[in-house]
Amino acid sequence: MPGSEMKGARTRVKTTALVALVVFSLLLIFLCALLIRTYTFSPGVAGDQRWASGHPPAHAGDFSPREKQRMLAAFKAALRIRTVSSGEPQHNNTALEEFGLHLSKAFPAVFSSSVVQHETVANYSHLFTVRGSNSSLQPYLLTAHLDVVPAVAGEWEVPPFSAEERGGFIYGRGTLDDKLSVMGILQGLELLLNRGYTPQRSFYIGIGHDEEVGGNSGAKNIASVLLSRGVTIAFLLDEGSAILEGVIPGLEKQVAVIATSEKSSATIGLTVTTASGHSSMPPKETSIGILAAAVSKLERNPMPRMFGQGPERGLFEHLTPQLSFPLNMVMANLWLFGPLISRMLEKKPSTNSLVRTTTAVTEFHAGIKANVIASSARATVNFRLHPAHRLDELLQQVQHIISDERVKIEVLQSDPPIPMSSYADDAFGYQLIKGTIGNIFPEAVITPGLCTASTDTKHYRNITTELYRFTPMILKEEDISRVHGANERLSVRGYEEVVQFYFRFIQNSDS
Ligand SMILES: *[C@@H]1O[C@H](CO)[C@@H](O)[C@H](O)[C@H]1NC(C)=O
Ligand SMILES: *[C@@H]1O[C@H](CO)[C@@H](O)[C@H](O)[C@H]1NC(C)=O
Ligand SMILES: *[C@@H]1O[C@H](CO)[C@@H](O)[C@H](O)[C@H]1NC(C)=O
Ligand SMILES: *[C@@H]1O[C@H](CO)[C@@H](O)[C@H](O)[C@H]1NC(C)=O
Ligand SMILES: [Zn+2]
Repeated sequence: MPGSEMKGARTRVKTTALVALVVFSLLLIFLCALLIRTYTFSPGVAGDQRWASGHPPAHAGDFSPREKQRMLAAFKAALRIRTVSSGEPQHNNTALEEFGLHLSKAFPAVFSSSVVQHETVANYSHLFTVRGSNSSLQPYLLTAHLDVVPAVAGEWEVPPFSAEERGGFIYGRGTLDDKLSVMGILQGLELLLNRGYTPQRSFYIGIGHDEEVGGNSGAKNIASVLLSRGVTIAFLLDEGSAILEGVIPGLEKQVAVIATSEKSSATIGLTVTTASGHSSMPPKETSIGILAAAVSKLERNPMPRMFGQGPERGLFEHLTPQLSFPLNMVMANLWLFGPLISRMLEKKPSTNSLVRTTTAVTEFHAGIKANVIASSARATVNFRLHPAHRLDELLQQVQHIISDERVKIEVLQSDPPIPMSSYADDAFGYQLIKGTIGNIFPEAVITPGLCTASTDTKHYRNITTELYRFTPMILKEEDISRVHGANERLSVRGYEEVVQFYFRFIQNSDS
């Protein structure tokens, strides 16, 4: 090696070492900055305690053994009624009627109280008006739905409409979605009325009968009844979120997620039309092949990550103080680690749905005969939009991914955007829900978040912008697949907690 080159190489080595040193010091400073931020990070979790446990309730939820036994029996009887939606025919009207009858038998105090007015809406849905003693307090609305999705009996350990109890769990379609709320809300009120409690703040209870097929009869009509009466409510509490245990990676504690927004749904139809013909002289590409390729492209190219652009940001910011190092550092510095977290979350379907608009190919129809080239093929794709994702953007992206003029794209259905409700310190509904969670589930960390499914909530948009989704139940990772799946179950203790929650909630709203 000639001398001059040697010298050059030595200089390069020196320069490299210097650069490394500078970079290293910078990294150190940077790391310190991160750590400081991690340990001083305070998203204001404490919030406003005005509606929390400050006042002891007039009635503690110390239900007698006889009351517990009765409430359990009423819940089980509700589970045995086959109020299935989306079967063929779409509803079992006999079962829907039977359910209404069951409510009136199970909750005699609610149905006979002079402060409660009951009416059926759209034949099978129910609206209860509870008149509080102080008309200057703005009312609120509790909602739930009494219908359930079908159950394939063969997949279950016990018959899905038996309400059989095993190992401390009640099994049955609707235990988690959503008969626990229907029965829990009314049971809570029943027990309060039995104790002579008179609510000060008025409230409504809306029970829909067709949520699982869109709620276009039940919730929609309940909402229009309220609108036609000029009712304005402070907030709504519906299903759609819960207390999660072991679902969020890196977090052992229970996390109560009050969903302040939900993903909206859009359904897109894809159609390919080609010439028909005999299968003995097929063209190079058939309608089925073209459409299959398009659908496959959509599955292989998920929608972009949008983590951090919607209410899920609030969720992870609230969780930061609960995490241990280094996860807390990562979470406190979402501006830097957002993409990394997205990649971690997208590994599981349950958390992937927080990160992006999801793509689900739900229908594929083509062909009429084994030896005939299908002249047309049609597929349906259901997207659940991240709150920061606009429909026109989505359509452009779909078009770009498919990049095939032969595939016709049309929007079959789309929800209007859903508001992001407040979780500020002065948000009455949010703080009331939060305070009551703190009473009944003191272990849980409470945070705002995103509901990844679609609920009846959307029908109530015109009545209030403060829409919250939370069911007072603890869900473990394995429970999530039981919702709409096999072996849906809730522990006996879990049902008691649901009743406790509403029993306390109504009282807290008055204090
Ligand atoms: C419809 O409901 C009635 C009353 O609950 C029940 O006896 C019947 O089996 C149900 N029919 C179906 C198809 O589930
Ligand atoms: C209620 O039932 C009646 C009689 O079956 C029917 O004509 C009517 O359309 C139903 N109303 C609603 C809102 O479904
Ligand atoms: C009714 O509520 C208002 C507003 O909170 C309060 O100022 C008033 O004192 C209450 N009236 C009664 C009789 O409790
Ligand atoms: C809410 O009001 C708007 C404007 O009046 C109307 O177009 C829309 O259909 C209503 N939405 C619901 C869910 O009632
Ligand atoms: Zn539901």
